[in-house]
Amino acid sequence: MKFDSKINKGPLDLRTVIGFFHTHLLYRDHAALTDVSFTVANGEFVCLTGPSGAGKSSILRLITMDLLPTEGQVIVRGMVSTNMNRRRIPLLRREIGYVFQDFRLLEDRDVYQNVQFAQVVVGISSKQMKNNVMRLLTQVGLWDKRHRLPHQLSGGEQQRVAIARAMVNSPKILLADEPTGNLDPVVAQEIIDLLFRINTGGTCVVFSTHDHEIVKNFGQRVIVIENGRITSDEEHKTAASTAHRLADRMYRPSAPQPAAVRVQEGSERA
Ligand SMILES: Nc1ncnc2c1ncn2[C@@H]1O[C@H](COP(=O)(O)OP(=O)(O)O)[C@@H](O)[C@H]1O
Ligand SMILES: [Mg+2]
Repeated sequence: MKFDSKINKGPLDLRTVIGFFHTHLLYRDHAALTDVSFTVANGEFVCLTGPSGAGKSSILRLITMDLLPTEGQVIVRGMVSTNMNRRRIPLLRREIGYVFQDFRLLEDRDVYQNVQFAQVVVGISSKQMKNNVMRLLTQVGLWDKRHRLPHQLSGGEQQRVAIARAMVNSPKILLADEPTGNLDPVVAQEIIDLLFRINTGGTCVVFSTHDHEIVKNFGQRVIVIENGRITSDEEHKTAASTAHRLADRMYRPSAPQPAAVRVQEGSERA
């Protein structure tokens, strides 16, 4: 996708789950993000990296629409920041799992309950709910420790519980803000491997880190952000974006594209 127009007015490919189009973010008069543009396709695995204060958390908070851009546009699963129905925000949040650097588990609840309590209960039986918790705790390797309290687990184990909790409603997108920030290098790599396994199940994963070691061995798409601007985006490394580009090439001769969403016009704010 090209970003040569002032703001996105073109068709948005349906595989795009996250789109930033000339996004600026100000906190009062402090520019946290300046002219940030990128898209993430369905099923991609993306590492957002850059020094502390670069704007990584701000990008993740724009994806959950916890913040809205000062200028430009953010589109997440068809929800457009410049034309938003606020009542739909809870629906968007349900499609996004979120993992924090400091785990944020309920300290007085055991592992099982931490995951169980995050479930949105509409339309599923209690048997399905139990199966969900069991499936996720098995996936993260903690079913045997389901009766432990968070303080009876290592940091890496606590983060795995937090990941199971984030996945319990089968979100389409998993966001993790510095998920390895409190962990030693070996455990950090295990967490990245777990995120990768979740991604191979079809969930789009975006995580941030300021850790060069993780980025060096990553082998997937890396977006570098420095001082609020994207300075590098190795978009073409991942299979998903390769497929994306191939499909774009195949579609290009025939206009208009059949499965395209027309993005809101009139959102240009110079
Ligand atoms: N709530 C806020 N109010 C004012 N400035 C903020 C706020 N949150 C972040 N910032 C500033 O915005 C910039 C980007 O912050 P952040 O997105 O948290 O970066 P990172 O996650 O990469 O460390 C930093 O300069 C930070 O100090
Ligand atoms: Mg941060």
